[in-house]
Amino acid sequence: MADTTVPQSPITASPDVKHIEPSERPGAIGRRDFLLIATGAFAAVGVAGMLWPFIDQMNPDASALALASIDVDISTVEPGQALTIMWRGMPVFIRHRTEAEVAAAREVPVEELGDPLARNANLDPEAPATDENRAAADRPEWLIQVGVCTHLGCVPLGQQGDFGGWFCPCHGSHYDTAGRIRRGPAPQNLPIPPLAFISDTNIRIG
Ligand code: FES
Repeated sequence: MADTTVPQSPITASPDVKHIEPSERPGAIGRRDFLLIATGAFAAVGVAGMLWPFIDQMNPDASALALASIDVDISTVEPGQALTIMWRGMPVFIRHRTEAEVAAAREVPVEELGDPLARNANLDPEAPATDENRAAADRPEWLIQVGVCTHLGCVPLGQQGDFGGWFCPCHGSHYDTAGRIRRGPAPQNLPIPPLAFISDTNIRIG
């Protein structure tokens, strides 16, 4: 079969950055540090997703999803800030954690967690929910996770809640600085998507 790889341009913080105001949708990211890069992400995913069904008519949906990866430039995200991008129609939180946020997450015993599993697509499904298993490999300051509450699917608010991580206002779920559910009705930690650092300042998600 011919090579069907579609070149994808890295997503940068401009000119596709859009600030989202709280009034635009319930549970949206309203803090100044949270940016939504939607247009570029959709463009990169869309090209791959559109071409594949013509090549693989047997199972177009699964195949299109398998190709949907995006590259994100994180060079402008300072410690304490976060970026939100869209991937496969879902928000993905990319947080550059401070040393204090990492330390707070690492001092919590796994036995105290509501969900003991890391929920990290890059690890064994049974991997425990230590902060080491939640953070990006060998880059503890970076936490990248799907921003969809595991209760009923709202988008949690960043750098809020009782544990300084995320807070879902829909029904009051609190996630810590490792994205682990600590209080409220959500049953699971926020999921970590497949990801890899392709350079010091660029990550590939998907
Ligand atoms: Fe988040 Fe219910 S959807 S707490």
